[in-house]
Amino acid sequence: MPHLFEPLRQRDVNFRNRIAVSPMCQYSSQDGHASDWHLVHLGSRAAGGAAAILTEATAVSPEGRISPQDLGIWKDEHIEMLVRMTHFVRGQGAVAGMQLAHAGRKASTWAPGQGTGAIAIEAGGWQPVAPSALAFAPDYAMPRALDAAGMRKIIADFAAAAQRALAAGFQLLELHAAHGYLLHEFLSPLSNQRTDAYGGSLENRCRLVCEVTAAVRGVWPERLPLWVRISASDWSEGGWDVEASIELARRLRPLGVDLVDCSSGGNVATAKIPLGAGYQTGLPNAFAGKAACQRERWA
Ligand SMILES: Cc1cc2nc3c(=O)[nH]c(=O)nc-3n(C[C@H](O)[C@H](O)[C@H](O)COP(=O)(O)O)c2cc1C
Repeated sequence: MPHLFEPLRQRDVNFRNRIAVSPMCQYSSQDGHASDWHLVHLGSRAAGGAAAILTEATAVSPEGRISPQDLGIWKDEHIEMLVRMTHFVRGQGAVAGMQLAHAGRKASTWAPGQGTGAIAIEAGGWQPVAPSALAFAPDYAMPRALDAAGMRKIIADFAAAAQRALAAGFQLLELHAAHGYLLHEFLSPLSNQRTDAYGGSLENRCRLVCEVTAAVRGVWPERLPLWVRISASDWSEGGWDVEASIELARRLRPLGVDLVDCSSGGNVATAKIPLGAGYQTGLPNAFAGKAACQRERWA
């Protein structure tokens, strides 16, 4: 039997195979609420046999949304519909996972099909926050650099969101530290030009991700797995890379992270990414060979 179909146990959670449905933005929420769309989208994949079903990037605060139509978990009112969804997913024998996210400087943008780039404040947009006042691209908003209180709020928002996810019946959390969103922006020297304890050295750039991870692990039960998704490469000179990813993984494991989900890119609008079949598989392979962060090979 292919390894892909072998079960896996992480902490007290059993995965029936090693197929995980990746988070995919649905741009189908109003005020962050899940709807029948999410129930059917995620529920049908659970019925299809995948082991882990992850929600789309789910915003920990309204200003952390990529678009106004993103799924959110910043208030208790979001929980009720999510309970319906996790109940169905779990009833199909799958593990219900939620990806927690803050879009950072890539927040307040039009959903696909509605426009491109930033939504102006007059059109209902908001000013994004980021490690540094550096816009992602010319048609994106100039973000405000977070101060110490702002970073404390981000950490608290992730922890509160994790508690709500637990109340909603999720058994797995993934922190979104990839694709050029807030946590990735702190990691990469191309988007983080801070001169305080959160910028400069690799250790400093990893600090916010580690603090968010520790805060989430502090409220997320020991019996449930915690994953972190990273972009293992910015595909850009001077950017975040596999070596840095390995260093991050070494810091995350003692904080209680069970798996590092390797994606790539998203932080540099002009990056030349060698798109093609399997173009990203070298990254986790290089990563897994050296970091050994996963307790057991996922796939
Ligand atoms: C429509 C769409 C929405 C996505 N939304 C997210 C997301 O919310 N969070 C995330 O980490 N990745 C997101 N991704 C990336 C996917 O999870 C996945 O990593 C990517 O599509 C590569 O896998 P593939 O080659 O099988 O498509 C999205 C991809 C697509 C196509």
